[in-house]
Amino acid sequence: MVSLRVLTGDDWPLWREARLAALADAPHAFKARLGDWPRGGEERWRARLTLPGAHNVVALRDGRPAGMAGGVPGQGGAVELRSLWVGPGARGQGVGDRLIGEVEAWALRSGATTLRLAVLPDNAPAAALYRRHGFVPTGGLGDLLPDGVSRERLMAKPLGRPPDRETDHARGR
Ligand SMILES: CC(C)(COP(=O)(O)OP(=O)(O)OC[C@H]1O[C@@H](n2cnc3c(N)ncnc32)[C@H](O)[C@@H]1OP(=O)(O)O)[C@@H](O)C(=O)NCCC(=O)NCCS
Repeated sequence: MVSLRVLTGDDWPLWREARLAALADAPHAFKARLGDWPRGGEERWRARLTLPGAHNVVALRDGRPAGMAGGVPGQGGAVELRSLWVGPGARGQGVGDRLIGEVEAWALRSGATTLRLAVLPDNAPAAALYRRHGFVPTGGLGDLLPDGVSRERLMAKPLGRPPDRETDHARGR
């Protein structure tokens, strides 16, 4: 069984374990490189986890990280979904759905109007997952990738309120 755990600063070793596993497993999926994140450096890991207004979650199976995702404050009423990863042994079981759902619920609670993300151009499985969750390409390009040529593709999901049933009823729908 997989459970989700929302992390505090003291959970930095767990976040580090998950993030290093993600970068080792799926270097094609992330702008960051494994070599950018040395194994030590508590201060740096803790700083990432305690970023004001951020929400970081790890999926645990038998006490070990099976996935992760983070939400960080953005600009103009937007927040960003970051670092989504599901370990190879846990894929295809809805863990990605749960992680996205957790970050989206946090985004709604924090009053954000848009949830944004960046996906690498050739990451079709992730882009499909995001589309299934209502994200659409904005047409915008994100950061330059290590190849020095390609750029991230930006996607966004408006976080509107659910349809107002009374209003729909009043309109005779
Ligand atoms: C993208 C990712 C988060 C999806 O997580 P997940 O929990 O497997 O999500 P889903 O179960 O919804 O599967 C998503 C897609 O992965 C593929 N998939 C399904 N089972 C799989 C498996 N056992 N192994 C590999 N891929 C599988 C399918 O294409 C699926 O799409 P479908 O639902 O239309 O069939 C995960 O594959 C991953 O971490 N990949 C590497 C890191 C990454 O790309 N992160 C996103 C950065 S933007």
